[in-house]
Amino acid sequence: MRKLAKCFTVVSILLSIHFSLFSNAHGADFKREVIYQIMTDRFFDGSTANNNPAQSSGLYDATKSNWRLYWGGDLAGIQQKMSYLAGLGVTAIWISPPVDNLNTNIPDGQGNPTASYHGYQARDFKRIEEHFGDVNNTWTDFDNLVTAAHQNGIKVIVDFAPNHSTQDNAGEYGALYDNGSFLGNYTNDTNGYFHHNGNISDWNDRYQLQYYALFDLADLNQENATVDGYLKAAVQLFQQHGVDGFRIDAVKHATWGWEYSFANSIYTYGDSFLFGEWYQGNTSDPLYHDSYKFANKSGISVLDFPLNTAIRDVFGSNNGFSEIDGVISQEAGNFTWKEDLVTFIDNHDMARFLTVNNNNNRLHEALAFTLTSRGIPCIYYGTEQYLHNDTNGGGDPYNRPMMPGFGTTTTAYQLISQLSTLRHNNPAVPYGSMGQRWINNDVYIFERKFFGSVALVAINKNDTSSYSISGLSTALPVGTYNDYLSGLLGGLSITVTSGSGGNNPVTNFTLPAHTVSVWQFTEGSAPPEIGSIGPTSGQSGVKVTIAGRNFGSSAGSVKFGATTATINSWTPTQIVCTTPSLTNGIYNVTVTNSSGQVSNSIQYTVLTAKLIPVTFTVYNATPTQIGDYIFLTGSTVELGNWSTTWDGAVGPMLPPNYPNWFLNASVPAGQTIQFKFIKIAANGSVTWEAGNNHQYTVPTSGTGYVNVNWQY
Ligand code: NOJ
Ligand code: NOJ
Repeated sequence: MRKLAKCFTVVSILLSIHFSLFSNAHGADFKREVIYQIMTDRFFDGSTANNNPAQSSGLYDATKSNWRLYWGGDLAGIQQKMSYLAGLGVTAIWISPPVDNLNTNIPDGQGNPTASYHGYQARDFKRIEEHFGDVNNTWTDFDNLVTAAHQNGIKVIVDFAPNHSTQDNAGEYGALYDNGSFLGNYTNDTNGYFHHNGNISDWNDRYQLQYYALFDLADLNQENATVDGYLKAAVQLFQQHGVDGFRIDAVKHATWGWEYSFANSIYTYGDSFLFGEWYQGNTSDPLYHDSYKFANKSGISVLDFPLNTAIRDVFGSNNGFSEIDGVISQEAGNFTWKEDLVTFIDNHDMARFLTVNNNNNRLHEALAFTLTSRGIPCIYYGTEQYLHNDTNGGGDPYNRPMMPGFGTTTTAYQLISQLSTLRHNNPAVPYGSMGQRWINNDVYIFERKFFGSVALVAINKNDTSSYSISGLSTALPVGTYNDYLSGLLGGLSITVTSGSGGNNPVTNFTLPAHTVSVWQFTEGSAPPEIGSIGPTSGQSGVKVTIAGRNFGSSAGSVKFGATTATINSWTPTQIVCTTPSLTNGIYNVTVTNSSGQVSNSIQYTVLTAKLIPVTFTVYNATPTQIGDYIFLTGSTVELGNWSTTWDGAVGPMLPPNYPNWFLNASVPAGQTIQFKFIKIAANGSVTWEAGNNHQYTVPTSGTGYVNVNWQY
């Protein structure tokens, strides 16, 4: 009997491993990808049948002269250009929101018609926009696109905007539909689906950011159980249609605590990669700390806006490389999952790089930097064709021209393709540390290193001056290295001599003006090495993808602390396993290969149960001075396990009705939790409320509310 059961287990493991060969590559392992950002309306018109649909007629401009109307690009168009994208080395496409958008025209200040061609004014999150799919709003063209992308080894990321529906004071007045049935609108909001607080005016006020409207867009109330359920069901529908990841719009403006449960709901359903738009200029932003606390804990990585500013300052303007180097090291100290930050040169909300500096050399250098440095690179469509339109400074909408053509011979196209191959093959690029080896205003030589694999990159951005490089050392093994780019950007060879402690001297050389050289070494066989885990938290049963090297082709084991996890699939570079049933907390995860060699460890948070958004309010809290905040702390990892630090406790809470404070936090379904409120003063000192712990049983579904008095 026992023998039979064992035999059955082996068969089912074999079956599931076999099955994985036919399933899609795992969304949770994203570090090796090169993302390409597409504004669907402006890429390629693959079907003319959807250009001027009846339910929203008049929003299409065949002459492409009104930049704020639809121009004809669609999902079929992206599908038709899939081999162009595969040749470019793109392994994931991020498409602008494909959901059914505003059907009416809203005139601009000068009376010109405008339309929601960009997709950020959803009316129905469960249907496909008629200008992008078909006139019946079905999923057919979307499904065809996903199938074609996957056949080409390309993952699909959907831009999802849970913060708002359409404009609240014109057009459809925020009207929201659930797969065609009307749910409610902003002007007659009897069910409380929206916040009614006016527009955000103070961009550093946490309450306004989350509870006021972003530029008149009807601000959804995610704490309402209907809205919560609707948004989670809609995003799951995209998962059912094969989507591998989501770019979450305006994460700084939706309710932060709710977003943890949103992410958890996605990961509970299936594997995915999530990154959000947390806009900020640089690491001195007053909410920079909130941004990395969010990225470290929510399950949602963020777009790396501070590095974007530095890239534009250094390559676009003439700032020295120390600006980039400074951001890289500061973020390394703050972001737990820094290799998951999504890096970029430009996007649809800022002037294109060539508008800022019309210098192709600088564009190539910035591209080479982004593709080889820390983080997942994202290329804005048309960059490889040197696309830009400089009207009025080239910002929105002039940064969204129609794709000018699909030639595959540009230097930028070749560069992206070659560096995409490197990122895929050498684990130092997706997973490795990033360190500066030589720097001045014009030259940056940096090294990526993952165990024995190394990539050394040298950029000289000066258009006329060469530099003599002496005193350079590297972790590359002794030998001569040719430029990985074969001279595409003027790169050269180097000779590495013998040194000690991972510092091998490089023979002096001259780095010519406006060149990039890439030298690399990929380690052979070695013990198992973990480079990535995704998601980074989950309750028992949630599937976890571990990526790295040397796992071997036959399955070994994965341990969370001392507990062995069930293996769902196993390849030499990627393992899928299941979060075991464990006491909630932070665990070190390790891989043991079939010959017993153990890997490095990587951190994973085991949640108590799936997450439910609960709004906690504490009345009449202890007095605070400027810079002091009330936080929530409690008995499980979701509540910080009684932590009293800024990063460990939940918060800061929000005081729109001071001295009452509230916060939405995601807590474990069905569990009875103990909690208290604390004051963390500006100087770090902590004041606990008195009395017994508060206790609350979290609902098993929907949303929850708790209101208590501060205990004196
Ligand atoms: C940020 C998007 O990137 C931007 O294009 C959009 O208009 C706003 N969020 C509102 O959705
Ligand atoms: C220590 C605090 O002093 C107390 O007030 C709180 O109730 C406990 N931590 C949690 O058990």
